[in-house]
Amino acid sequence: MNDESEKSEYFENYQDIDVHHLMLSDEPRTLAYKNAIFNMKDRFADKIVMDVGAGTGILSIFCAQAGAKKVYAVEASNVSKLISQVAEENNVEKKIQVISRKVEDINPNDIEKVDILVSEWMGFYLLHEGMLDSVLYARDNFLKPDGLLFPSIAKVYTAPCELSKFNSFWDNIHGVSLKCIADFYKKSLSKPQVLTVPKDDTLAEDKLLIWLDLNSVTTEELDALGGEETVIVCNKDGKYQGLAIWFEVEFPNGTCLNTSPAADPTHWKQTVLVLPKSIDVSEKEPIAFKLQLNRDVSNRRWYKVQYEMLDAFETEHDIPCDCYMTKCIVSKAYIETLSEEVIEK
Ligand SMILES: C[S@@+](CC[C@H](N)C(=O)[O-])C[C@H]1O[C@@H](n2cnc3c(N)ncnc32)[C@H](O)[C@@H]1O
Ligand SMILES: [Zn+2]
Repeated sequence: MNDESEKSEYFENYQDIDVHHLMLSDEPRTLAYKNAIFNMKDRFADKIVMDVGAGTGILSIFCAQAGAKKVYAVEASNVSKLISQVAEENNVEKKIQVISRKVEDINPNDIEKVDILVSEWMGFYLLHEGMLDSVLYARDNFLKPDGLLFPSIAKVYTAPCELSKFNSFWDNIHGVSLKCIADFYKKSLSKPQVLTVPKDDTLAEDKLLIWLDLNSVTTEELDALGGEETVIVCNKDGKYQGLAIWFEVEFPNGTCLNTSPAADPTHWKQTVLVLPKSIDVSEKEPIAFKLQLNRDVSNRRWYKVQYEMLDAFETEHDIPCDCYMTKCIVSKAYIETLSEEVIEK
């Protein structure tokens, strides 16, 4: 697929109202934006805002309702035709200027610089879809130097997990056991799966993999992320069957939209790297791996997610570390003695 057809296929997908229905029905998503915007009304009063990828215009309307003077609703798909009607329906048509094109195609001389950039750009595991590049373009070309980004911080987390539902599907299909196909299927999977992982299926605390300050991150930095040797300590006995990945974004007032297994479910669910074989793990056992996200050269909107299992005995652990290895027990005890001494002094 060449670059142009990839682009048009991407925007054609957003022409489908079902896609917008799915996003608008996602209450944790839509309300996180509404609450962040409404709780910072003082920052929106009389300000100029750009909504990058306005879709149906929902976030643009929130900004107008929160007191913005003008909102540029930028939308490249055909759904942009509906935004003016939505603005009229909500009596904010005087404040909303629809720009029916890609943000990258706007001539900077045609519009004013903006005080605030709002965008809902996140894809599965945060980065799928590559729309953050467009937000960074808007930041670098249209946002005033002291302008605000909604959201402003993005983080990717991971945790090892069991895949109880994913596996049990094969246990009994109308009285027929197909467990052998489950193993074959897992080995054949070449892509991460988008699944809901119940909190009880996670085997460790959340581990931060990637932290992005959207005020300063560059598109080049987004080409290769992660890749550090990581050790996670299991907090219970279980079967290590997959690595769940999810994201959280933070707004300038500190509120968050969290897509973790512990949070209210969103349409992003979690992204899971399914292991070809289940591994029995015990409480306090360390799991070591390297997880790298590299931009796919054939399609910049996709990433290659590479997982490499490491030997936990050969890998450096956090200090202090809760795992059962002697070196970690000793160093943790030593740190605790030191901190007790400091408290006594
Ligand atoms: C995840 S949807 C969010 C829609 C809407 N803001 C909402 O919250 O419901 C992203 C939207 O951004 C649009 N989009 C993506 N990249 C864009 C770009 N470079 N310029 C303009 N629109 C873009 C897509 O067509 C899509 O409608
Ligand atoms: Zn350890």
